[in-house]
Amino acid sequence: MRITEVANYTSMSEKAEKIILREVRERPLIMALPTGSTPEMLYSMLVEEYKRGKVNFSEVVTFNLDEYVGLSPANPNSYHYYMNERFLKHVNVSESYIPDGMAQDLEKECADYENKIKREGGIDLAILGIGGNGHIAFNEPGTSFESRTHVVKLSADTLKENSRFGEMPNRAITMGIGTLMCARKIILLASGKKKARALKMMMGAITEEVPASVLQKHSDCKIIADGEALRFF
Ligand code: F6R
Repeated sequence: MRITEVANYTSMSEKAEKIILREVRERPLIMALPTGSTPEMLYSMLVEEYKRGKVNFSEVVTFNLDEYVGLSPANPNSYHYYMNERFLKHVNVSESYIPDGMAQDLEKECADYENKIKREGGIDLAILGIGGNGHIAFNEPGTSFESRTHVVKLSADTLKENSRFGEMPNRAITMGIGTLMCARKIILLASGKKKARALKMMMGAITEEVPASVLQKHSDCKIIADGEALRFF
């Protein structure tokens, strides 16, 4: 795991943008993408670059990491809505997949999502944020490192953390830790002192109690974080 320290949120976003643009320009790309506060500026930078004609996403396929159970794509709190508004509707991504939190049969939806990832050839580049309790995607502490896409009951910590977006459902569909670890390259973004504890835990013992700690075992994982997020290092 390599750590790149940057000055602040803007430089974290710029650095991630640069890596993504390089990958997109080099070859067809299957990406896993997060939502939340962390990647907001990154998405707007990528959209700007596209609007200026500097990048073409027509050979890019995206898979979102997660979606709340029970929220329709029209619901502003859904990750469908988030992704469409911030990124997908502005660019020419060839195909975008987001778990269907409204599916009648959630188990089947999870299995289908895994199959779609397999069918597309697996994830080349996964962009991740990190939760205050060390979660990645919505894999909460205690999730098996072998897990594949599954339905999760969100922890009280995560519900509290995300309550800034309004009242959220307490279940979600998430790619599993095993799913994420199959990505060929992983970039985890973190900015601000509220991420410092999670980053410290992540670099400690590798344990299922700290989901992000598994990334220490990945052969190509980079953390791009600012000084505040790295203040315990
Ligand atoms: C969201 C996701 C989560 C977030 C994490 C950090 O799709 O997978 O793991 O990345 O909760 O959220 P923010 O960026 O809002 O601090």
